[in-house]
Amino acid sequence: MISRRKLLKSTGIGAAVLAAPAFFEQAWANDGFLEITAGPSKKKLYREDAAASDLWLYNGTTPGPEIRVIAGERVKIRLINNLEEPTSIHWHGIRIANDMDGVSGLTQDPVQPGETFEYDFVVPDAGTYWYHAHNKSWNQVARGLYGPLIVDERSPVFDRDHDLTVVVDDWRLRNDGQLDLASLGHLMDWSHGGRFGNWLTVNGISRPEFTLNKGEAYRLRLINAANARIFEIDPQQFGAKVLAYDGQPLSAPEIPAYAPLLLAPAQRMDLLVTPERDFALEEMSGDDPYPFAYFKVKEGSDPKTGIGKLAPNPIPQPDLSKAKSYKIDMTGGAMGRMVETVYKGKVLSGEDFPRTGQLWAFNGVANLAEDPFFSIERRENVILEVVNNTAFLHAMHVHGHHFRIIEREGATIDDGQPWRDTFVIGPDQSVKIAFVADNPGKWLFHCHMLEHAAAGMNTWFEVV
Ligand code: C2O
Ligand code: CU
Repeated sequence: MISRRKLLKSTGIGAAVLAAPAFFEQAWANDGFLEITAGPSKKKLYREDAAASDLWLYNGTTPGPEIRVIAGERVKIRLINNLEEPTSIHWHGIRIANDMDGVSGLTQDPVQPGETFEYDFVVPDAGTYWYHAHNKSWNQVARGLYGPLIVDERSPVFDRDHDLTVVVDDWRLRNDGQLDLASLGHLMDWSHGGRFGNWLTVNGISRPEFTLNKGEAYRLRLINAANARIFEIDPQQFGAKVLAYDGQPLSAPEIPAYAPLLLAPAQRMDLLVTPERDFALEEMSGDDPYPFAYFKVKEGSDPKTGIGKLAPNPIPQPDLSKAKSYKIDMTGGAMGRMVETVYKGKVLSGEDFPRTGQLWAFNGVANLAEDPFFSIERRENVILEVVNNTAFLHAMHVHGHHFRIIEREGATIDDGQPWRDTFVIGPDQSVKIAFVADNPGKWLFHCHMLEHAAAGMNTWFEVV
């Protein structure tokens, strides 16, 4: 296992490039569809003297093209599958119609090689989202199938020059610059903390440098596209405030009460930065801070004040007094308690674990069962209590809904908690979340450490 601490040291800082993801504006077809082709591509990730890496990308870029729409808009996307295996796209964090959620095997059939699928949905909420493959995600996302999905406010709060998307990923590369494919699916990773990379990129570039104007207000939209790595970031180092988590704005920009902040797989964090001097974004989980993006500050001409008030999205407030409660007991993994585990209706024993790769369970069930974990009427209030009886951190994601954390470790948390679509839970912790089940359909609840999801940490509920 490569520990999260061991990142390959880059030889120098990256070239002074503006590291914005490619925009999508060019790719609208005549019929109003954006075309996204998933296929093999070569891209140099590693040092100049190394070969380009063989990746799987959307439209040949990493990250995939930035889809930029306005809250309330209808988005039509045609996925063309040029891969050798089936795929689908999930629009992470969008409160979407269920049949457009892109979960292979639950909300749609996977799109076969050579075939296409048309996504057509409305984006209700402004904010920072992303899209990624949702068939064998542990494999497809690790190879590069993801991109940013930015939903602008109806009246823009930041202009494009002051609104920067920062997609962070860690790749596992060999010394020759190729992706380490042999390690994909390794049960050692699946039973531990997931598959960590050893090479960080921001918008597909190692240690890019952005240029900002002094004293002007910027929005940095951080998106963690890594399979398993939790980034630790301290916005206080450069005087930043948090504007939003997982796409949902805080009532006012906030100086975080504690630091560093965790940015777990699939989580997003929008920062408000008004730079006075050069700074770097640093990953602080290792022994030494690891700078992964540099910001050069030059004399500005246009100091902006009073920016940063983002209007809330219309997410329904859960009524806890009326809520139905459900509990999930998370078990399994290395050094963890294992309970009798059912997979596809059969109790697993001995050899079955390595054979099926099912190493974790929710309430003794590994992966999706025939029946939902719970079924609930539309607009009912849900309290989900999650108890982590494993030795690892997890990043738990609810599809189709945003929720609030209402309790951690048995202690009630005030109602000012941000909306989230993915929360971190530590070993032996318990967390309660609450939401209104207002979106009909079949929704996943899973760990976004993609190896954990594949290895059992995956269930579904139904809103009828
Ligand atoms: Cu971002 Cu089920 O995933
Ligand atoms: Cu996990």
